[in-house]
Amino acid sequence: MKGIILAGGAGTRLFPISQLYSKQLMYVYDKPMIYYPLSMLILGGIREILIITTPHDQPQFKKLLGDGSHIGLEISYAEQPKPEGLAQAFIIGEDFIQNDNVCLILGDNIFYGDFDFFRDAIADFDHGAAIFGYWVRNPQRYGVVEFDKAGNVVSLEEKPAQPKSNYAVPGLYLYDHTVVARAKNLKPSARGELEITDLNRVYLEDNQLLVQIMDRGIAWLDAGTPQALLESNSFIGAIEIRQGLKIGCIEEASLRMGFITPQQLQETLSHYPQCDYRTYIERVIREYE
Ligand code: G1P
Repeated sequence: MKGIILAGGAGTRLFPISQLYSKQLMYVYDKPMIYYPLSMLILGGIREILIITTPHDQPQFKKLLGDGSHIGLEISYAEQPKPEGLAQAFIIGEDFIQNDNVCLILGDNIFYGDFDFFRDAIADFDHGAAIFGYWVRNPQRYGVVEFDKAGNVVSLEEKPAQPKSNYAVPGLYLYDHTVVARAKNLKPSARGELEITDLNRVYLEDNQLLVQIMDRGIAWLDAGTPQALLESNSFIGAIEIRQGLKIGCIEEASLRMGFITPQQLQETLSHYPQCDYRTYIERVIREYE
């Protein structure tokens, strides 16, 4: 399984801050937003990762994460010149995906909790598509999935005015390599985008879509508006301060997944300034000694 983080978009809802830099580089408590989806991919066992950004913001992402080798990853980059939809990620990522399965995570989606559901979804994945349904108060802001009494998927709709259920589709999707050809066949929606919901509907019509409920014990936040950003900051901050453990620490995730040895991580840390973040990772490394 390869991973794609989509970190493009205009960040319109975060204007005027988004004039200065990409939404996915804004901070969420003590680290850049993209650390959260990136650490989730790492904890899912995914090492080969494509980050899709606007051409304008790409140098900053490269400055932040480089080729990922310092934390045992293989990170490459691609450009999405215009915000023409999430499904465009697979057309842009064609050469990267080749014949492999791919997990797309949106750069502004933050998950917290026990990630066994994610590791299991990857382990069980064979072909087709696997997405999730998560109960929210305001489903009209999202892709919405409707189930019948037997738990079968009946419909998928993008931002419906009258949602048929409270189950929103989070920005975390697993696809087989046929996703590239399927994305190329999509027509832009009324808002001029290749919609991920249309792509999922193609898999549904082919009987190849698995939708699993994401348990309420998982926190799913999307940090795309000022209010959501504030809530994400408070949420992550509250837990980190209480536990003294970090959420979304990419170095720790790589170490725990065995992508990097304690010695290699020590070398990476020697380039970090003395700060709480470094002290935290040093403490994690000591557990391995
Ligand atoms: C996008 C998708 C939507 C999904 C959401 C998750 O919405 O179109 O189906 O539920 O991400 O964050 P957007 O962020 O473009 O409003």
